Amino acid sequence: MTDLTEDSSLADLQNLPYWLPGEHPIKSEPAGESNMNLVLRIQTSHRNLIIKQSKPYVRKYPQIPAPVDRIEVEYRFLQEIARDAWIKDRVPKVVFFDAESHILIMEDLGKGLDFSKIYSGEKTLTEDEIIQLVDFLSRMHGLKVDEFPVNMKMRLLNHEHLFQFPFLEENGFDLDTIQSGLQALSLTYKRDVQLKEKLKLLGDRYLSPGKVLIHGDFYPGSWLDVSSGIKIIDPEFGFLGEPEFDLGIFLAHLDLAQQPELLRGSILSAYSNPLDLQLVGQFQGMEILRRLIGIAQLPLTLTLSQKAKLLRKGKYLILN
Ligand SMILES: Nc1ncnc2c1ncn2[C@@H]1O[C@H](COP(=O)(O)OP(=O)(O)OP(=O)(O)O)[C@@H](O)[C@H]1O
Ligand SMILES: [Mg+2]
Repeated sequence: MTDLTEDSSLADLQNLPYWLPGEHPIKSEPAGESNMNLVLRIQTSHRNLIIKQSKPYVRKYPQIPAPVDRIEVEYRFLQEIARDAWIKDRVPKVVFFDAESHILIMEDLGKGLDFSKIYSGEKTLTEDEIIQLVDFLSRMHGLKVDEFPVNMKMRLLNHEHLFQFPFLEENGFDLDTIQSGLQALSLTYKRDVQLKEKLKLLGDRYLSPGKVLIHGDFYPGSWLDVSSGIKIIDPEFGFLGEPEFDLGIFLAHLDLAQQPELLRGSILSAYSNPLDLQLVGQFQGMEILRRLIGIAQLPLTLTLSQKAKLLRKGKYLILN
């Protein structure tokens, strides 16, 4: 079992069993922003590779345990969706999977940035980008997948941060450290019994088995902007669930990034499978709320009153 770190030396890396004859690593660096896993970009004498290793904890916060087999979910997901030739071109190719060491070696898609830049208002998504993203979801959700890991430990971890922690009055997270006044604003939602009942049902639904392969974390941090178009990464939260989840998350991030209303309409009209729009709205509302008052904060530049407006929208979507 190999345990890699950001400081693994080139000599350590050379000892890995993954290289082609005569290949040697020349340079290793963190591939980009990551919290959950160790993700390295390795330049070798022959090519550039991404090496992703899951640990039995959250890499950035080693005191928080996390399911180590999440990398296997990512591997299985990439294998499944590569059956569709169009999708295959929009995810990294798998080079090698080492189940024992929890290491996935992938094609390096290039140093493209992800789309987190949309939160600061420095970028508006184009209609064409929206269509690329929706087409990805339409095709992925249309795949016939009979068997896939249930990924329950990752779902439970996510469930805590989507449906529970953000709505606990005494969760120990002082939102005024994010923005003055946010803590008081959040209390209305944390004390809303009707809202919390709906969230409970929605959370149960998230944990129930579904039939459609979903990405499970379809937000701008999982979209890479490379010269050939948008690539989708990081499907470690994938499972057979409800397609409305991916669409709800997608829409919520357009709200959080204050993207033009028109784009949201394009998403729903371009999506090609049947959808329960009410359920899409509920997941969307949950994601808006939990990103504003939960621990997984985004690099937003919103004023308190803009956040108040979004919180109202989130609640409305959940309760309709
Ligand atoms: N195949 C790839 N090609 C190019 N860059 C990549 C690739 N995979 C990952 N990266 C870069 O590494 C970063 C981290 O990757 P990834 O999101 O998969 O890691 P993670 O640990 O699961 O992150 P998170 O904590 O957000 O869940 C990405 O944002 C991206 O910049
Ligand atoms: Mg991840």
